[in-house]
Amino acid sequence: MTVDADIIEGLRGAGLAGEGNIVLEPLTGGVSCDVWKVETPSGPIVVKRPLPQLRVAAEWLAPVERGTSEVRWLRRARGIDARVAPDVLAELPGHAFAMRFLPGCPVWKDELMAGRVDPAFAAEVGRRIVAVHAATADSERDRADFPNDEMFRALRVDPFLLYVAEHDAELASALRTLAAELSARKIALVHGDVSPKNILVSADGPVFLDAECAVYGDPAFDLAFCTTHLLLKAVWSGDARLTEAAAALAAAYRGGIDWEAADGLMLRAGALTAALLLARVEGKSPAPYLTAPDHKRIVREQARALIARASPLDELVANWKRTFA
Ligand SMILES: Nc1ncnc2c1ncn2[C@@H]1O[C@H](COP(=O)(O)OP(=O)(O)OP(=O)(O)O)[C@@H](O)[C@H]1O
Ligand SMILES: [Mg+2]
Repeated sequence: MTVDADIIEGLRGAGLAGEGNIVLEPLTGGVSCDVWKVETPSGPIVVKRPLPQLRVAAEWLAPVERGTSEVRWLRRARGIDARVAPDVLAELPGHAFAMRFLPGCPVWKDELMAGRVDPAFAAEVGRRIVAVHAATADSERDRADFPNDEMFRALRVDPFLLYVAEHDAELASALRTLAAELSARKIALVHGDVSPKNILVSADGPVFLDAECAVYGDPAFDLAFCTTHLLLKAVWSGDARLTEAAAALAAAYRGGIDWEAADGLMLRAGALTAALLLARVEGKSPAPYLTAPDHKRIVREQARALIARASPLDELVANWKRTFA
């Protein structure tokens, strides 16, 4: 992998590299970005640079400005609670940036897939996401700082909701309504990609990465997005602790809702979770581990029934628990 001379120059300019050779070690992941670990005189850092085109089967184009949205989210979230995001050290050319490397922190997804499931950690994920939402709810300033509706539409609403609507005549109208309502709600600062693969397990609790889809929008989306991943993994593994983790996440999140009636938010999160579950088997970004035809069928049938008959997230998770684990 190559790195532009201007990024090296930027690192030097920010005092993050000496005059000697700079070694960039690619980190895993990287569907949408180049991500490197760099040793510096003041310790290891991560350099992340957005790619103009995502490395996934179906071609997705995404403006590189999302790198700047990510920096803004990381800084804003750290201002609310310094434990929830890595420290941004410098902004670099090409909407790239440098942040502190967090040593010895596995990615939550790897922990879950290895059977290390801790509902208390899931609850802390819920508490930390809801804290960011609560601190930014009804904030004109945050709304003005994250005017990323177009990006959110291209990377979230279109591929997860509208793409499925195009391929499912029966549910098309429900999914289009959901998409329109999601796009219209301006309530709090949404991370946009709260997936276990973007959460590090640190000694100090969950740390959120990868905020490229950050937007001022409906906080129910973050809750739904993360819950969806846990419910899919429960089907994949048959491990009851994954649905318990989803229940713990939802309950902890509910406990922190102080800007609107919790019941309304949980209902929106339930509807979005149902749609996202379907999107992960029918959409443009299928869950890579959910390959068994039986697993796909189970998710498809359940999700379709749930879209037709919306239920609050807590109820949805409790039913999932009874059915699958
Ligand atoms: N500050 C950090 N400290 C430690 N590890 C990090 C840090 N930032 C990123 N990583 C590692 O690099 C991986 C990719 O980072 P990130 O999710 O931000 O990039 P991405 O290109 O959007 O990845 P993907 O498309 O796989 O989600 C993370 O899963 C994590 O393992
Ligand atoms: Mg990521």
